[in-house]
Amino acid sequence: MDLNVIILAAGQGKRMRTALPKVLHRLAGRPMLEHVVDAARSLEPARILVVYGHRGEQLRQALPHLEVQWVEQSDRLGTGHAVQQAMPLVDGNAMVLVLYADVPMIETATLSRLIDQARDGALAVVTARLADPSGYGRIVRDSAGHIMRVVEERDADDAVRAIDEINTGILAARADNLARWLSRLDNRNAQAEFYLTGVIAMAAAEGRVLSITPVSNEGILGVNDRMQLAALERSWQRRAAERLMNNGVTLLDPARFDLRGELNAGVDVVIDVNVVLEGRIALADGVYVGPNVVLRDVTVGEATRIEANCVIERADIGARCRVGPFARIRPETVIDEEVHLGNFVEIKKSTIGRGSKINHLSYVGDAKVGSEVNIGAGTITCNYDGVGKYVTVIGDRAFIGSDTQLVAPVTVGAGAYIGAGSTITRDAPPEELTLSRAPQETRKGWKRKNRAVKTGEQ
Ligand code: UD1
Ligand code: CA
Repeated sequence: MDLNVIILAAGQGKRMRTALPKVLHRLAGRPMLEHVVDAARSLEPARILVVYGHRGEQLRQALPHLEVQWVEQSDRLGTGHAVQQAMPLVDGNAMVLVLYADVPMIETATLSRLIDQARDGALAVVTARLADPSGYGRIVRDSAGHIMRVVEERDADDAVRAIDEINTGILAARADNLARWLSRLDNRNAQAEFYLTGVIAMAAAEGRVLSITPVSNEGILGVNDRMQLAALERSWQRRAAERLMNNGVTLLDPARFDLRGELNAGVDVVIDVNVVLEGRIALADGVYVGPNVVLRDVTVGEATRIEANCVIERADIGARCRVGPFARIRPETVIDEEVHLGNFVEIKKSTIGRGSKINHLSYVGDAKVGSEVNIGAGTITCNYDGVGKYVTVIGDRAFIGSDTQLVAPVTVGAGAYIGAGSTITRDAPPEELTLSRAPQETRKGWKRKNRAVKTGEQ
């Protein structure tokens, strides 16, 4: 039987107090809706239908890459009404799975079991017992333990509020049955909404409700406010940290670790506290990442040390390098092996050859630096003339004296030696000393103006 997944994403997110559609708020760096679409996709459905409404255009524009069918719910009349909007696009003989875009940690294993339960024409729902069930719809069972209905907290009396079994909202049913039940929904409740939960009572009356529990309670937690989102973020990060540690990564404090993307890490990688990893990151065996480092789309070779407080974005760094502390490496940079980049060094769109050293206070942008080059403290590539960007080429083994400005386009030959304090505007030949500073002179007998005398004159 084909599977069609309906994801509800039209909610306004009132409790978030936000101008952004709620489901665009991020968990582990990605919009909540994307997590749910991933979970749906893992089940290989024939269709994924996303019901959008509140600020819907913003949602579609933010996620143009999502391979889903968008269904508009122009009046936000409740979760049942939202599902009704999608039903005309559902295949008549499909199994329908309803997911909530604000339940982003839902696990595939839970969903597969749910769908199995619904095969024989039942309505299968995921329910869970929570220590704090507040905010959720409660599952009301009869004395024999069969589900009778779901009661929203706002519609509940004290006895129902005391029930700790909650409706996760996630359910599966055959399209024909679901359509039949949906057609009978009404909105007689505290919020005057068409509650999807109404179909549970109807299926119960036919003796057709089955429930399962999720593989974990974290997987079914909903995000209605920013506190819940932050709590879920911590759960997600703790899982990511556990996975990494099980694969041979040392995290000095798994509670202070933030992965907002994908990390591919070798063995004996050590990650100190407060490191933020974004996008796609690859850390080879034995890499050390110091405290407060931010890495975004970066690969790092074996045994390289990234010291504290570096910010590195879209760069490839070779093996056995030493970077930082306090280095900034910007996009399109390729660093070969055994390179040293020290404190307050900024590199942009450059290649740095094997064994080269840029240890202090430098800006190297749009440069091709050879191997075994030494760039002295305070060296600047002047790559921008206010209009265009130009390239600086530095040959192998060149030595650039401290406080040099290399005014691009310019080439420093292999083995060239540039005297400290030079402003290099023309190519410097290989293996020669080039310098541009004025000869030092001393003016004998020069007298400094005497301040005391000046004041006295006034
Ligand atoms: C809903 C359930 C509740 C359950 C909880 C689990 C109903 C009536 N209540 O409550 O039993 O315990 O989820 O998290 O179903 N949405 C639309 N269109 C609408 C209204 C909502 O698409 O008109 C979407 C929202 O974007 C959200 C989801 O449906 O993704 C749930 O809506 P929300 O208002 O958060 O429902 P809850 O009060 O959490
Ligand atoms: Ca919710």
